[in-house]
Amino acid sequence: MQLILLGPPGSGKGTLAADLEQLYEIPHISTGDIFRRNIREKTALGQEAETYIDSGALVPDALTITMVADRLEQDDCKRGFLLDGFPRTIVQADALARLNALQDKPLTAVLNLIVRDETILKRLSGRRMCPRCGRGYNIHSQKPCAAGICDDCQVTLVQRADDKEETILKRLQTYKEQTEPLIAYYRERGLLIDADNEGTIEACFQTVRQLLDDRLGRA
Ligand code: AP5
Repeated sequence: MQLILLGPPGSGKGTLAADLEQLYEIPHISTGDIFRRNIREKTALGQEAETYIDSGALVPDALTITMVADRLEQDDCKRGFLLDGFPRTIVQADALARLNALQDKPLTAVLNLIVRDETILKRLSGRRMCPRCGRGYNIHSQKPCAAGICDDCQVTLVQRADDKEETILKRLQTYKEQTEPLIAYYRERGLLIDADNEGTIEACFQTVRQLLDDRLGRA
């Protein structure tokens, strides 16, 4: 199964992906997570990506496409993949289509997560991350056992650098200008599934699961 999670910042792509990855046993590939890992490890890729990410802009297509193409070559993608945050531009979508054709792995579906801007602002301003392992939490919906401390690493949680309100607004604008056109792109190709992602984390997962079952003709 080859799935894409499409949706604005904070729409819940990463949260949903964690459950879908287990359900379908396909690797969750988040371009944002790969960039952040490279930033933490101070690689050349991380250093190049960091300025774009911190300002709420997109990392250039060429860099991002090469990174994803390398990742999709890996053995664990033989069963399929779950892309989160890629593609984000028409250029990236065209590159992915060429790659899928080369690997004979056509897309199964593109889930379009629909969430209001005010919900996004609340979710992103409440998000906290572990600076050591990258695990995500939320002061409203995904609280750690001890306030402000990672359950796994016992270190103090931090806010993502791009979760400042001004950067969130810039990311939303970037999404509307550069990524939203992908909704029509995939709808025209008969791949888009609209999913309301406003409910609780569990309710959203069940909704998406049902939508995918319907699409795949499962009982
Ligand atoms: P990326 O990390 O992909 O950021 P994003 O798309 O802005 O998405 P987020 O991670 O902020 O949100 P999400 O939709 O995954 O929501 P989440 O599940 O975490 O990318 C970061 C940056 O990297 C980009 O801005 C860009 O610069 C660069 N980049 C990445 N990919 C690129 C590409 N292809 N091309 C170029 N540049 C690229 O949820 C958010 C919060 O809400 C969490 O705290 C969660 O607990 C909570 N939550 C989730 N669902 C629910 C729910 N149903 N109810 C209540 N709370 C919920």
